[in-house]
Amino acid sequence: MIIGLLKESGHERRVALLPDAVNMLTKMKVTFLVEEDAGKESFATNSAYQEAGARIEKKKEVIGQSDVIIKINPPTPDELSLMKAGTVFLAVFNPLMDTDLVKKFAANNITSFSIDIIPRTSRAQSMDILSSMATVNGYKAVLTAANSLPKFFPMFMTAAGTITPAKVLILGAGVAGLQAIATSRKLGAVVEVFDVRAAVKEEVTGLGGKFIEVEGAIDDKAAGGYAVEQTEDFKKRQEATVHEHAIKSDVVICTAQIPGKKAPLLLKKDTVEKMKPGSVIIDLAASTGGNCEVTKDSETIVYNGVTVIGNSLFAVDMPSDASKLFGKNVINFLKLMISPTGEFKLNFEDDIVRLTCVTHNKEIVNERVKAIINN
Ligand code: NAI
Repeated sequence: MIIGLLKESGHERRVALLPDAVNMLTKMKVTFLVEEDAGKESFATNSAYQEAGARIEKKKEVIGQSDVIIKINPPTPDELSLMKAGTVFLAVFNPLMDTDLVKKFAANNITSFSIDIIPRTSRAQSMDILSSMATVNGYKAVLTAANSLPKFFPMFMTAAGTITPAKVLILGAGVAGLQAIATSRKLGAVVEVFDVRAAVKEEVTGLGGKFIEVEGAIDDKAAGGYAVEQTEDFKKRQEATVHEHAIKSDVVICTAQIPGKKAPLLLKKDTVEKMKPGSVIIDLAASTGGNCEVTKDSETIVYNGVTVIGNSLFAVDMPSDASKLFGKNVINFLKLMISPTGEFKLNFEDDIVRLTCVTHNKEIVNERVKAIINN
């Protein structure tokens, strides 16, 4: 089997596999092609890939010769048009939202895997790209907030007087939120956390955060550990609670998401207007609409003296370790489909393979994606 690794474009600085990861795959008897300069922005040279056993080629050759193509982001229209029927394409292309791309994959007979929809099971944990990138996002969000805040995070007792610690409010205690709690605490801030899933209370307090509870949240066990839409009555009470805590905070880190849906609106405009001038809001949910009403995706604005940073992809700013984690996840996933002789085996008996596959044999095969398209 030939696997091809593509170079990303635009602002993306990560690469799906670093040379160490390629080395692990070439040891599994896979032939490897890497697009020229694929790792440049992640500080991985062409020669490092060659030493790992790969051949460096131009994009056209990589796509034309590979059985399996790996990338982080969706293919560009050019890349898609170069893929031959039957090619396997593996990336993160958000099929629950970008259904047009899914239809193109089916029409072009591409077998596509979107590793952002990997099931959230214990066995799939080592392949969970969302968790890896959320870890980077949560960490970087706090460092960015600390850098933008005109005051210290920790408490200081100095000869010139005492500096009180910064107050950080974290909305959503999933993977990014938990990492944001840990990083904020390490920097010495006082941390409050709000989530609709009461199950996270123990983890929050274990990391040194104070859990804010709003009674009456719908916690759907069938949602696989994810949050679900809340009632209008709950949303009103939640809005009042978030308002009360946000106006006393120096930093608000927004991480709340509902898979396949617009992010819940938790921080209204009038709350931002009452926050202290100089406060900072980091909205990690910006790309799906944002948790804060004034957020602009991929922009930093100052609203009424409050800095609002809309960024869902801090991982791009930490390309080395983000690519390392990404590559580990990809390898663990690929292992499910590589035979001992280095051949590709599409094993739909395996639930992780089946549930991550989006299109195959000109059909949309993923039930979650089909349900969205048919609704
Ligand atoms: P996510 O990115 O979908 O959402 C982030 C957080 O926002 C979640 O904790 C969610 O409850 C919260 N949220 C949603 N709506 C909210 C609202 N209106 N107000 C406040 N908070 C709200 O979540 P993420 O980080 O992807 O993880 C969700 C859960 O999935 C984890 O806690 C864990 O239980 C599970 N998980 C399982 C994995 C595995 O077993 N392979 C890997 C990673 C996560």
